[in-house]
Amino acid sequence: LDIRLALTGFGNVGQGLATLLDRYGDTYLKRYGVALRLSGVADRAGAAVSLAGLDPVSLLEAKEQAGTVSAHSSGVPGLHGSDFLDRAQAHILVEAASTNFDDAEPGWSYVCGALERKMDVVLASKGSLALHFRELMENASRRGLQVQYSATVGAPVPSLQIADRALIGSEILAFEGILNGTTHQVLTAMTQGSSYDEGVRQAQEMGIAETDPTLDVDGWDAAAKVAIVANSVFGADLRIGDVDRVGIRGVTAAELAQARESGEAIKLIARAERTEAGVTAWVRPERRPLDDPLGRLRGDAMGIVFFTRPLGAIAATVDPSGESGGISTAMTVLRDVLNLARDRGWTEPHQT
Ligand SMILES: NC(=O)c1ccc[n+]([C@@H]2O[C@H](COP(=O)([O-])OP(=O)(O)OC[C@H]3O[C@@H](n4cnc5c(N)ncnc54)[C@H](OP(=O)(O)O)[C@@H]3O)[C@@H](O)[C@H]2O)c1
Repeated sequence: LDIRLALTGFGNVGQGLATLLDRYGDTYLKRYGVALRLSGVADRAGAAVSLAGLDPVSLLEAKEQAGTVSAHSSGVPGLHGSDFLDRAQAHILVEAASTNFDDAEPGWSYVCGALERKMDVVLASKGSLALHFRELMENASRRGLQVQYSATVGAPVPSLQIADRALIGSEILAFEGILNGTTHQVLTAMTQGSSYDEGVRQAQEMGIAETDPTLDVDGWDAAAKVAIVANSVFGADLRIGDVDRVGIRGVTAAELAQARESGEAIKLIARAERTEAGVTAWVRPERRPLDDPLGRLRGDAMGIVFFTRPLGAIAATVDPSGESGGISTAMTVLRDVLNLARDRGWTEPHQT
């Protein structure tokens, strides 16, 4: 079965997706019986569209050579918004454009437009979820459509899948995680003697830093993620502004060294818990023992621990794979796309 994807944003994540479709497209066809085709790809200068599917390699070349996919042989300079969605005629919108936490654009308009056109949605950008979570989910469910967003919450840790599948029926009391790779990379680099600025630069070179690194270092990105996970697992309706937030700018090399001498590490911990008064969430630097599931992590590794009854604490952690952040995030976008295709009955049966 051909599945058409409309992709908005062709930066680290969008290009990662094109790279992976080139790498694994044939495998997915054989293994799952689905041909994932990019029927439209948009960046700031315009878009490329083809219902037969755009060749990922030639898209990457056009982007590299001309700086925009609209220079592709199927490119249309200035094509955006509703016109883009109409022409791409996709089954699924993959939203991977840069975002913000003021108005969530351009993602919010693309997501609403996609739902109006009966497209399912897979999100890499967090703005829409951090500002409009419940509205978005209700809109999709009214229309019988799916919104998947595992890439937004500390990809590639399968936090949402654990909560949704492995912990169904159990009580989740709280969860805490290292949900932001950039700040973790900076703290690890500072522990190893680098300056704060060097740590930020390393994260940018790895393709894991947000375009505007203040979103990472001041804890906004982690706050968005903890709100999104809390909304998903607790059925809460938190917005990013409801999360108490302290970033890592105040963490000093002396504090990191002192923690280490006591067998601990300072991590930017994001935590949410269900209390009698409702769901509360916060982000702040905290000390964790070096043998703790989160305290032992290094580099840009991420992880989450769910505190549950009666199963106890369940942790999932992912060590850096060596692939760029864009590739790892794109892999989790594909995970959502393939799971969505399976839920819809588009994949062939008896395949995993
Ligand atoms: N990088 C990661 O590992 C990661 C992880 C999780 C989530 N995310 C989220 O995923 C999204 C993409 O991240 P990224 O690292 O790929 O960012 P990026 O490298 O900065 O790329 C952003 C892309 O969005 C495009 N864009 C901006 N405004 C647009 C508009 N109005 N219409 C169409 N395209 C537009 C940009 O176009 P131009 O190319 O023309 O500038 C660019 O291609 C972000 O929202 C980010 O927060 C990223």
